Amino acid sequence: MKNNADLSINFCGVKFENPFCLSSSPVGYHAEMCARAFDAGWGGIVYKTLGLEKSFKVVMPSPRLNAYHVGDKRFVGLQNAEQITDRPIADNIKDLLWLKKNYPNKVLISSIMGYVDEDWTELAKMSEDAGADLLELNFSCPQMAHKHAGHRIGQDFHAVAAFTEVVKKASKLPVIAKMTPNITDMIPVALAAKEGGADAISAINTIRAITDIDIDNFTPLPNIHGNSSPTGYSGKAVKPIAMRFVSELCNSKQLNLPVSAMGGIETWVDALHFLLLGATNLQVTSGIMRYGYRIVEDMIEGLSDYMIERQIKSLDEIIGKAAQKIVDPSDFNTRYQVVSVIDENKCIGCGQCFISCQDGANQAIKFDAATRKVSVNEERCLGCLLCKHVCPVWDCISYKEVDTSYTKHAAIF
Ligand SMILES: Cc1cc2nc3c(=O)[nH]c(=O)nc-3n(C[C@H](O)[C@H](O)[C@H](O)COP(=O)(O)O)c2cc1C
Repeated sequence: MKNNADLSINFCGVKFENPFCLSSSPVGYHAEMCARAFDAGWGGIVYKTLGLEKSFKVVMPSPRLNAYHVGDKRFVGLQNAEQITDRPIADNIKDLLWLKKNYPNKVLISSIMGYVDEDWTELAKMSEDAGADLLELNFSCPQMAHKHAGHRIGQDFHAVAAFTEVVKKASKLPVIAKMTPNITDMIPVALAAKEGGADAISAINTIRAITDIDIDNFTPLPNIHGNSSPTGYSGKAVKPIAMRFVSELCNSKQLNLPVSAMGGIETWVDALHFLLLGATNLQVTSGIMRYGYRIVEDMIEGLSDYMIERQIKSLDEIIGKAAQKIVDPSDFNTRYQVVSVIDENKCIGCGQCFISCQDGANQAIKFDAATRKVSVNEERCLGCLLCKHVCPVWDCISYKEVDTSYTKHAAIF
């Protein structure tokens, strides 16, 4: 059997054999599912969010999913109207106990959601007694039928600080506060969680969205007996937004807490992107819902091979490597300007670059319809690289730096 690189991480003082965890959702709905995930190689699981049915009885809307397809590419994003678990708390606690007993070396994270202080206290204590290694506080579900829960709490700094403090008093376990992306700036909420004693931040929960409308009956999807609502959007399509939030969390000197990242992770490269931004721990739901638990095998193998090839001994050597390259736009070096270069030998003469430059840039590309040859007018080229991004040939269009002292760009300075 092939040797893997050391993928172990330490997150909040807890050792994970690898950074890959199930995020709280149907993929960790009960013990039998979590056991299969552990067997497949996941380092930890965040169990489906627990609540107390005596405070609020969850009844799931139905149907509760809709997928966003783009052309032939299916399941680019996933919309869900699911709330926290609808299973009885007693059954879930039995499952947590069983999981810890049977998988003592895997990490068990209990996700909890209370509505009042007493709920948070009870859920934290029950989870700790059941063997959880960490707690994740769900301040972020965007479609709770309860009016004082989920992302509504996650938008209220005072409530986040207060409930985090309640949990910290009730339990000795490290606490992760899970943030909502349905807010302009996540940092003040994360700071409120820190003020309440949070040991780490996780992000992102799902983004409120409408993915489709049935044009025959005018009902957005999922069609829940004639109605719908903007509900949680996740999967590959949200990864750019998740990376933005995670980067801001990791780069905040004031926050300075470890981050568990999620939002669109499906492959080892997705995982690596979040590590490079500074996340230490990674979580996945939509990728598993689409492809199954086995995607972790590819993530472990891919990340391992990447590390072995580059002689990287531990993940600590790469975590945050891209973070310092993220600056404010006012800090860009605008003396550096480029123009497009088209490789004639690779060009297939499709004319796509010409069409896009003609109507979407500065008409810098010339196209000879007879020979189907394209060329760049460097004087007109803005260096936006729209042509490169629309070109169907992977490495046909590149760019070169221009001397800004004599080109049109000189006017800028
Ligand atoms: C069907 C579904 C149910 C979810 N339920 C929960 C939940 O109970 N608690 C929670 O904290 N997050 C929940 N989430 C959010 C995920 O844990 C995760 O934050 C989000 O889906 C982004 O990751 P992904 O792109 O890998 O799916 C749910 C997501 C989906 C798709």
